[in-house]
Parts: sequence; C-alpha cells; structure tokens
Amino acid sequence: MSQPTIESILQEKRHFDPSPEFSANAHIKSLEQYQELYNRAKADPQAFWAELAEKELHWFKPWESVLDWENPPFAKWFTGGQTNISYNCLDRHLTTWRKNKAALIWEGEPGDSRTLTYAQLHREVCQFANVLKQLGIKKGDRVGIYMPMIPEAAIAMLACARIGAPHSVVFGGFSAEALRDRLIDGEAKLVVTADGGWRKDATVPLKEQVDKALSEGVPSVKDVLVVKRTGQQVHMEPGRDHWWHDLQQGVSGDCPAEPMDSEDLLFILYTSGSTGKPKGVVHTTAGYNLYTHITTKWIFDLQDTDVYWCTADVGWITGHSYIIYGPLSNGATTVMYEGAPRASNPGCFWDVIEKYGVTVFYTAPTAIRAFIKMGEHHPNKRNLSSLRLLGTVGEPINPEAWMWYHRIIGGERCPIVDTWWQTETGGIMITPLPGAIPTKPGSATLPFPGILAEVVDLDGNPAGDNEGGYLAIKHPWPGMMRTVYGDADRFRRTYWEHIAPKDGQYLYFAGDGARRDEDGYFWVMGRVDDVINVAGHRLGTMEIESALVSHPSVAEAAVVGKPDDLKGEEIVAFVTLEGNATASEELNKLLKQHVVSEIGAIARPGEIRFTEALPKTRSGKIMRRLLRSLAAGQEVAGDTSTLEDRSVLDKLREGA
Ligand code: PRX
Repeated sequence: MSQPTIESILQEKRHFDPSPEFSANAHIKSLEQYQELYNRAKADPQAFWAELAEKELHWFKPWESVLDWENPPFAKWFTGGQTNISYNCLDRHLTTWRKNKAALIWEGEPGDSRTLTYAQLHREVCQFANVLKQLGIKKGDRVGIYMPMIPEAAIAMLACARIGAPHSVVFGGFSAEALRDRLIDGEAKLVVTADGGWRKDATVPLKEQVDKALSEGVPSVKDVLVVKRTGQQVHMEPGRDHWWHDLQQGVSGDCPAEPMDSEDLLFILYTSGSTGKPKGVVHTTAGYNLYTHITTKWIFDLQDTDVYWCTADVGWITGHSYIIYGPLSNGATTVMYEGAPRASNPGCFWDVIEKYGVTVFYTAPTAIRAFIKMGEHHPNKRNLSSLRLLGTVGEPINPEAWMWYHRIIGGERCPIVDTWWQTETGGIMITPLPGAIPTKPGSATLPFPGILAEVVDLDGNPAGDNEGGYLAIKHPWPGMMRTVYGDADRFRRTYWEHIAPKDGQYLYFAGDGARRDEDGYFWVMGRVDDVINVAGHRLGTMEIESALVSHPSVAEAAVVGKPDDLKGEEIVAFVTLEGNATASEELNKLLKQHVVSEIGAIARPGEIRFTEALPKTRSGKIMRRLLRSLAAGQEVAGDTSTLEDRSVLDKLREGA
C-alpha cells in the first residue's frame, strides 16, 4: 500500500453521509435504524437470528434450537431444522415473477456471453445434479471443482448443494500440486473442470493440470467431468474422464432438492494459515445460507431492479458468498465475468458495467489501484451512470484509492461499502450499511447487526480508543466456520486459544490487527500472523517456504511481505543454498518458477535474495521482523539482542 500522504491523513477525517435519496429507498434507512437492529441483536442474538431465518429462508422442517454453544468453539445453528441452499437460491423464485428474471449474466473474455433466467439456471442445475447422481455421487460425497469463471462453475456448485454433496472449489490459478493436496485432503470422489479457461488473452490449461494432479494417484477420485470451453486439445482418460455436455444430453431437468440438516456440510474451502498446510475451512448449510443472504441484502442493498456484479473468482470465498449464494438466495441478477483487465482491453470492467447497466459493483483495492495506474481516461470514456453503490474487499483500502473510486467510478454519488471479513467468517462482518452509516475513507466502519466485534489484547482486555490491538469476535454468528476439515484441534488452536477466554466467553481471533476510533469505527491494519496478502490473495509464508525448500538447491528459506504500491504486499524470499549450489540469476528465476509450479502464479516471489545465513534467535527461530525491515529497505529497529549471530545481519545488509 502506498505511504499515506499529509493529504490522505487529512482526508481520513472526512465523513461521507449517504444521500437522502439513497437512504429513502434503502433496506436500512438510517443510523438510528441500524443502531436499533444492532442493539436488538446484541440483547437477544437468538431471537434476532431466528426472526430472520423464519422470514428470509424456506425450511423443509423448522429448527428446534437456534444456537447450540454448549461445546465451544463448536457452534451449531438451527439444529433440528432442514433446508437446502440450492432450493433457496432457485426453486423458491420459480413460483414468483422472478421465474423469468435473469439470474446469471455471464460475459466471457473473448466477448461471448450468456444469460440464464432463474428457470433456466434451475433446469441446468437439476440436470447436472442428475448427472452427478448417475456417476454415483451421494449425499456427503465431496466433489472438487477446478474451473474457469463460466456458468458451469455456478451450476456445479448449486448442483452439489442440491444433492448434499459438499463441494471443494479450488481456484483455477492454483498449480497441479496445490490442487492435488486439496483433493487428497478432502477425499474428493469426482472433479469438475474445463479443457481450459480464458485469462488475459491466453488460455489456461486446466484439464492438463487436473491430469498432472491425478497422475501420481489420488485414490478417492473416480471421475472427471470436463466442460468444453476453449476447445484446446486435451487428453481424455478412458473410463475416468467424461465431457460434461455428453453426459448432460437428455438428462431429466427435474431433481428435487435434498432436505439437508442445518449443520450438514455445505462446502470446504482451503485457505492459507500460518503453517505450511492450507486449512480446509468448513461451512455448513443453514447458518451460511442465512448469513450470506441477509448480509447481501442489507449491505449491497439489493433491489429487484439491480444488476449486481462482484468481480471475485468463484475459487475464493467472495465468489462463493457474493457471486453465487448470497445474490441468488435474494433472487438478484448476478453478473459473472471470465476476464481480467488486460493489455488488449484495460477498460474491460467498465465495458461490462456499461453493457449490462451494472448498478452495484464490488471489487478489491488492488484492482482499484491498478485502475488508477491505467488512467482515468478508461472509465471516463464509458457511461457508468447506472452505478449506485460500490464495494471493496480483501485488504485495507488506502484513502487515496477510496477517494479515486468515489470520484471517478462512483461519480461522487455512490456510497462505498468497505467490507471486512474472511474465508472463516463466511460473510461480511464489519461494513457500512450504505443507506445508514456515514463512511470514512479507509475504515470498514461498524459491525453488522449480530456481530460483536472488539479490539483486544491477548488477555481479552478491550483496547482504548485509537489503541492498536487484535480484532476479535465475541459471540458466535450463523456464518462462522464450524471447524477445520479433519482437524478440529487445529480449529480450536488457531482461532480460539490465542486470546484468553474472558469471563468464560470465548473470543474468535481473526489474525488481523485493528484499532477503533472515537466514533467506534474499525480501522483494520492487516495480518498479525505469518499470512501475507498479495493483491488480495492470502498466502502463508510457511507455504511458500515449504515450496522453496522442496527444491534440491535450497537449504533454508524465509519469506516476508514487503509493502507494494499496487499489490499491497509483495513476496520477498531470503534463501540459503545447499553446499554445491551457487547463487545465480538463472537459479533465481528457476526458484521463482518452482514456487509457481508448487503453488500457483499468485505465489511467485517478487524478489529472491540469496544469503549465507538467516537471522535466528538462540533457540533457532527465524527473526522475520528483521527480515521484514530489510525487505522494506528500512533500518532494523527494535531489539536484536536475541540474535544468535549478529554478523548475519550485517551480511544481509551488505547483500541488499
Ligand atoms: O486481513 C484481512 C483481509 O483479508 C483477510 C481475509 O482473507 P480471505 O480469507 O482470503 O478473505 C478475503 C475476502 C473476504 C482478512 O483477515 N481483509 C479482507 N477484507 C478486508 C481486509 N482487510 C482490511 N479491510 C477489508 N475490507
């Protein structure tokens, strides 16, 4: 992130009130209304969530208990109840006028497009659900999804949810290795993929990566379904691989949604933590459905006339919650775009907004900073007057970027919702409600009703106004992750034991640093653990280090983040070499490529520095704090007395 300027610091003091016109038509119309909701939810959370669950979702069977928190940190919501998120996203709209409303508007990178109404999407989902059943997929079987941004990705997810087969979507930018690890951990029985996808004027060889991932044997995977997207040549393994469209031919478009218990597993989504192995974050049916539904409705203020576009990829939680499940549960029109701004069309996002009359636009600060760099003539050339609300997610937004977004994209008329949340939280936690809460550039503002957010120290004591601390959540919420797949102990350790329980109450540790200002507004500062955020992508430093040391030339590696104007953070790796390896430009390139093939292009180090030794404490712990300062080109500040060998620091400085 760029360094704050005097101007930006002054601007941070600015408030932007929602316009009276916006507030008048919004779901939540005033600060008083927000406060009333917040206080009601705080006083009686169970009554608050029960009322919404009753009003907003379809239930096959009503629940018996709203929240079971008898065995913290393992929460259960709406036990005894049965519902189905695919039913809530599709079937229930078919008996209303929305039957022929556009559910999904899709735009492919080469300019092809497709619109599916609710009735059409329902039919395709049912057909595909029947295909899965024919291949023997039953309730509880896990399905891997490794797809480009095409409608079939949404169809596959909804079809899995429909028959109760938990999906595990793996971002199409991840390598074969990363895919393999995730398929093994989740014991996926089937993989849905495509021949390839379009990205920045080139095709990505997805099927080839699946072949590679399966080549060493992933015993659980029996079938691979392949969508023909790019038409590139692919190998089809007899007996294992099938073309999606062949199997879908003539299959019935009728497949009743399976009544699912509220706590039945809905999906697993892997995310990086502070150890080498990504965590399978587990979300379950009813609570996730309710939480994504209501946050989408109130935060994006969805109205039936809206054309809503979230630019995330379905491989991330934002794609799950705010391209697919939240918008469709609300009966909204959701836009899905395969492409990314690219040399041949840097203004492609603005083309999509103009073409479909997008009204609500949700993107990431890193994208906004890239747009600033490309120049405002791109958006200025397009008609963006359809926009009425903007959002950001993924990392703190610097006030300059916020102001640019407000002026150039929002035409100074659109509120901006800066939404703080995580894969683990399922949905947005701290955010403005656009008709109610005045915004300040750079602040995610206030907690969503029902969310008790705090800034605390490690003993759970609240920090004072404007005092830094750890962001924590006090009470369970319906969208929270339930566990780490196959590792309940890791779930407890990672999220619930960092902060001491306070007065018997467990506090969820988010891994972010934050402060709260005198108005109660939250300012999220970024990760406080060994997680770095590169262009809104979350990566564990240990994960990258493991990838580096898996190369025969590498003895040891330490990875840190360095501030970057565009990406927020950039990966810097300090590497020591095995005895007979020598540092060279070539090896530097090779190691970068090695990380790409182990994890994916998102993890490519910006810089690799060869060094003779790494700074360590006497007990052998790498002192990353020192490496962070060195990477950022700053003087090493603070205590260095625990360093085992002080000369290491001098050598590292010389090498810089
Ligand atoms: O550090 C916070 C940052 O992204 C992390 C969560 O990453 P992930 O699970 O990949 O989910 C990203 C999309 C929800 C958080 O711990 N983060 C996300 N949104 C914001 C943010 N930091 C500051 N402001 C935000 N609005």
